[in-house]
Amino acid sequence: MYGNRSLLRHCERCVILMSLMNIVGIGTDIIECGRIARMLDHHAERFTNHVFTNEEIRYCSGRKVAEQHFAGRWAAKEAVLKAFGTGWIAGIAWRDVEVVIMPGGKPTIRLHRGALQKALDLGIAEVLISISHCKSHATATAIAVK
Ligand SMILES: CC(C)(COP(=O)(O)OP(=O)(O)OC[C@H]1O[C@@H](n2cnc3c(N)ncnc32)[C@H](O)[C@@H]1OP(=O)(O)O)[C@@H](O)C(=O)NCCC(=O)NCCS
Repeated sequence: MYGNRSLLRHCERCVILMSLMNIVGIGTDIIECGRIARMLDHHAERFTNHVFTNEEIRYCSGRKVAEQHFAGRWAAKEAVLKAFGTGWIAGIAWRDVEVVIMPGGKPTIRLHRGALQKALDLGIAEVLISISHCKSHATATAIAVK
């Protein structure tokens, strides 16, 4: 366990390491898959079209347990806005942050419109993302790099 002084030294080392690695920010989010399932049930396309891009909808809808994949993308979008350090602000919409799946399944982040402009303003060149989900929850971690 860390004492106060050694915790401070540890935190300072983390900040130095992050700046050496060109990390601008980190963000994480967790969501109950049941909450997403209820929104899919009650609002269907009004919900999906507001939050997810066409390609995200196509990918998630084609999976066996769609709500887990939708929930993972919900968490990813929230995590990215935390990595920016801004959270949701005027000018950034849900569909401005898109999860794009690479061959092999690795997720990447593609930014559009307001989110892309904010990333440029912050000097962010790329946002790394990792997503995980199970029956109950989905989680995502984002790292914004220069
Ligand atoms: C990638 C892997 C570690 C995911 O772990 P998991 O416990 O099955 O599932 P999790 O819920 O934790 O993670 C799922 C998410 O991992 C991400 N993912 C998938 N493949 C990935 C990869 N190659 N690299 C990084 N992330 C990956 C995706 O975002 C996925 O969610 P999504 O489909 O909604 O986009 C695992 O499936 C794996 O090793 N796959 C490659 C080999 C394989 O397909 N084996 C199965 C047949 S032998």
